[in-house]
Amino acid sequence: MKSLIILFSLILLHVSGQSLKCPDGYTMVLNKCLQAYPALTRGNHSAAEETCRQDGGTLASIRSVIENRATSVFASNNNLDKFWIGTFCFGNDTSKCVYDDNSGSVSDYNSFAAGMPLVTGIIDGCVYMLATGPQAGRWVSSKCKTDEAVGSVCELPAFVDNPGYLQRSGCSYFDGYCYIRRSGPVSTMASTCSQIKGFPLSIRSKRENDFIYGLNSNFNDILLGATRIAYDENKSISKYAWMDGAG
Ligand SMILES: *[C@@H]1O[C@H](CO)[C@@H](O)[C@H](O)[C@H]1NC(C)=O
Ligand SMILES: *[C@@H]1O[C@H](CO)[C@@H](O)[C@H](O)[C@H]1NC(C)=O
Ligand SMILES: *[C@@H]1O[C@H](CO)[C@@H](O)[C@H](O)[C@H]1NC(C)=O
Repeated sequence: MKSLIILFSLILLHVSGQSLKCPDGYTMVLNKCLQAYPALTRGNHSAAEETCRQDGGTLASIRSVIENRATSVFASNNNLDKFWIGTFCFGNDTSKCVYDDNSGSVSDYNSFAAGMPLVTGIIDGCVYMLATGPQAGRWVSSKCKTDEAVGSVCELPAFVDNPGYLQRSGCSYFDGYCYIRRSGPVSTMASTCSQIKGFPLSIRSKRENDFIYGLNSNFNDILLGATRIAYDENKSISKYAWMDGAG
């Protein structure tokens, strides 16, 4: 049993009617916060993901023609010719191309260039967008490590610019929630959280997981707000439920 456990809790913020703000270095583009990072001489998709994750964000995910155009213009204004986006292809059909946050395939909206995606192996399903030239705004599948120079555009959700909430010390924002870190043993988790009107942490998307990972860079353990509801002794498998009742 470890003596110190890192505990997060979160508090729901009411986003309606509040002005939104981006962290330093990020620019608000259509209610999302974007930052362009310069191209590595030899494109490296993992390094790009890691850069975004260190900011608590992800590579930009593009879900509409408006977002596609805005992101492409943003990148070109920041001197990028091409940049990684948060999409990966497992095959030659757009239904086999998925968003990094596991939110499904890009069948509803995508902007692949003619002949794309073209995936011949497991290491060439990464996707970048062209930001300049006649093909600006088009997506290209690529080797995840390439000899081409590829930049990246990271995205973070905007947070509510409300002085009242910002005064809460230690608040980090993601998707309209405030995350606060507390230390203590498991037995006091529920009461510690309820004292600040929060809930133990639950994680429901890869993006949120990346955000927590970014917050947690100095710590080893995070106590999650999940509790064991069933245990199969034959398979040694436990079933867990989130303590905030979300299933
Ligand atoms: C690509 O980036 C990853 C993650 O930062 C790093 O471990 C790897 O060495 C890089 N590969 C190349 C070829 O630069
Ligand atoms: C995609 O198409 C190329 C060229 O026709 C082919 O070599 C490759 O095997 C296809 N990829 C998949 C995953 O089917
Ligand atoms: C575990 O295995 C025993 C013996 O095969 C069986 O009686 C029992 O129902 C199993 N338990 C579960 C939870 O599947």
